[in-house]
Amino acid sequence: MRISVIGCGYLGAVHAACMAELGHDVVGVDVDESKVAELAAGRAPFFEPGLPEVLARGVASGRLRFTTDMAETAGARVHFVAVGTPQTAGSHAADLRYVDAAVGGLLPHLSDGDLVVGKSTVPVGTAARLGDLVRASSGADLAWNPEFLREGFAVADTLSPDRFVYGVPGGEGGERATALLDEVYAGPLAAGMPRLVTDYATAELVKVSANAFLATKISFINAMAEIAEATGADVTQLADAIGHDARIGRRFLNAGLGFGGGCLPKDIRAFQARADELGLESLAFLADVDAVNMRRRRYVVDLALEMLGEVVGAKVAVLGLAFKPDSDDVRDSPALDVARALQEAGAHVVAYDPEANATAALVAPGLEYVDSVDEAIQGAALALVLTEWRQFRGLDPEAVGRSMAHRRVIDARTVLDLALWRDHGFEARGLGRP
Ligand code: UGA
Repeated sequence: MRISVIGCGYLGAVHAACMAELGHDVVGVDVDESKVAELAAGRAPFFEPGLPEVLARGVASGRLRFTTDMAETAGARVHFVAVGTPQTAGSHAADLRYVDAAVGGLLPHLSDGDLVVGKSTVPVGTAARLGDLVRASSGADLAWNPEFLREGFAVADTLSPDRFVYGVPGGEGGERATALLDEVYAGPLAAGMPRLVTDYATAELVKVSANAFLATKISFINAMAEIAEATGADVTQLADAIGHDARIGRRFLNAGLGFGGGCLPKDIRAFQARADELGLESLAFLADVDAVNMRRRRYVVDLALEMLGEVVGAKVAVLGLAFKPDSDDVRDSPALDVARALQEAGAHVVAYDPEANATAALVAPGLEYVDSVDEAIQGAALALVLTEWRQFRGLDPEAVGRSMAHRRVIDARTVLDLALWRDHGFEARGLGRP
């Protein structure tokens, strides 16, 4: 099938490449010329395991191309809208200008029987509004098909998601939309992926409520970490124990520096803003979820200041800048926030991330970036592990200690065996752990 994908950021680039991988003929459209040039050459403009391979395969096969020209969407049957919905400046609501521009830009190129498919995360009510617009201006229809991919697993999550959700209009339009989406996803559906067909509002809400639930789960365990810190309990053992209850489950119960990234923080805020608009108090608890999450960053900064005593001029090694491992994304990264706060307090921050140095340097040019753990810890008065990259798990405390000026470490992501590090003379502190 001929498919267009509008917006080639994280979501769109992965989606376009994966649709070509499924055998479709795909054109990806983006306004950013340099991004389009990279993608057209079969190169991923950001770090995502597995993406370079599917991109290169798609481009080489001739089934995948990229352009800045919206007119090239003409002739495609299904048009995915995968542009960003950032937080509006000065408010917590989602900024829909890119979604509106993408749909508006598509309108002149739509033909009777085409299907516009929203993938962006939007406030409930958006699909109904855009559906009316699309139907009134062309013979096309609109569906909302939220995306649940995780960075670091984006290709696998797109090709074999936990579930497909199709938000469709009532009547024949809904049947046509469902049939077209079934054709697009025929491969994964044949492999048994579940698919749920709902109305627009439900599909929009599935996405934001899933992210709100995940954020709540993380903040729940981080709230328990605060209690554990005050009482000498161990939050990791607590998580293991409650996680054995299948109704609770152990996943997403890792206490630490909390959630960041381009989705969870902005999505819970936009969801609250939408509930406020609807005059509902239902999501007031998400303000606490947000507050617990942000407190963890402050706690780590305070702990670092306490351990350092004299912060001005002290060399501090920051290990990890990405908001999570296997990513070079530093959007709302807790690690980068902590690094910047220590720098502002007067420390000389030397940072190392296996993938995110370059993206971090764009937004935090004041930090010093180095290419290895060894360089970061050389002569440091304190080391902080802020992202749980696998390579940090295997650090040898004796070798690290010999390089540092003082044996002090904060493990904000529960990757180090603190008892072992203490055996090697470290003052070693974790979160929610005695
Ligand atoms: C999240 C959702 O998990 C995806 O399902 C969703 O599609 C995506 O947002 C989106 O809306 O686009 P992602 O932002 O890639 O995916 O990251 P997650 O894996 O959810 O992690 C988010 C943050 O939570 C990270 O900073 C991570 O370190 C933190 N986290 C995660 C914890 O602090 N503890 C945990 O137990 C799990």
